[in-house]
Amino acid sequence: MAKRDLLSLWDLSAAEIRALFVRAAELKALRAHGERPLTLGGKTLGMIFEKASTRTRVSFEVGMYELGGHAVYLAPQGTQIGRGEPLRDTARVLGGYCHGIVIRTFGQEIVEELARFSPVPVINGLTDLSHPCQVLADLFTVWERLGPVAFEPGPGSVRFAWIGDGNNMAHSWIEAAAILGLDLTLACPDGYDPDAEVLGRARKEADWRAHIDVVRNPVEAARGRNVISTDVWASMGEEGEQGAREKAFAGFCVDEQLLGLAARNVMVMHCLPAHRGEEITDAVVEGPHSAVFTQAENRLHIQKAVLERLLAPG
Ligand code: CP
Ligand code: NVA
Repeated sequence: MAKRDLLSLWDLSAAEIRALFVRAAELKALRAHGERPLTLGGKTLGMIFEKASTRTRVSFEVGMYELGGHAVYLAPQGTQIGRGEPLRDTARVLGGYCHGIVIRTFGQEIVEELARFSPVPVINGLTDLSHPCQVLADLFTVWERLGPVAFEPGPGSVRFAWIGDGNNMAHSWIEAAAILGLDLTLACPDGYDPDAEVLGRARKEADWRAHIDVVRNPVEAARGRNVISTDVWASMGEEGEQGAREKAFAGFCVDEQLLGLAARNVMVMHCLPAHRGEEITDAVVEGPHSAVFTQAENRLHIQKAVLERLLAPG
């Protein structure tokens, strides 16, 4: 059987995403009862991290351990990756030891090259372009809170908003909306729109029910919405633009006033880490609408489901 990668959400069908939710819920319930299905016994995951991480690193490492497998963390410092060994060589070498590779890096093309040369599945743990594992966790968080009806057309269907940078997280949300047929409005400041190719593909290949809009006004995006997501204004690698971005993103803070325009039961999402007082207020992160810590926990459950699907298919 050909190996399967998860380089972006386009690597999954709507039916596969729904199946991942079901399995993640099972795995979450088993864990709550202290049970550990050892579905990945004897398997090892290589984890290349060229950027910082708390959630992604720990949830993959714990996930492998809890499924009976093992994970090996590889930072540039202390490995030959940092000394310039070509990724295509690393891909084949790791493929001789490991049953899967997670990579967090800069360009999406780096992940694609790794996948091209790796004989084992490659999982995108965040690039500048996308963050599929996080958005799977976010979607699962909505699914478990509101039920499968949240993703069906009709009166119970959920209306999503993205407020902030048209960044890696926004791109994965756009892909999710296209694949699952979601209603998503993004509010991004002028100059910080999502990537035109990401939007173009989403619009071209979208499920017929999908509705994807980009607007400039956060109020317009938030009004009546059931789920509002945001993220930092300057992502990893963009720290030098912090000052300019603070100016451009004025008015884009997810605060209680903005939430007042959303649906009564609105869920607020942030992938974390957050800059409280910039893109989101402390009161909203700590408030009754916040789903941020459930999202963070759900990284573990959904990624276990992903690992089972890719590393132990069938
Ligand atoms: N949300 C997320 O990916 O967090 P980390 O950067 O801590 O992995
Ligand atoms: N957009 C953020 C997400 C961090 C999880 C970044 O890329 O830094």
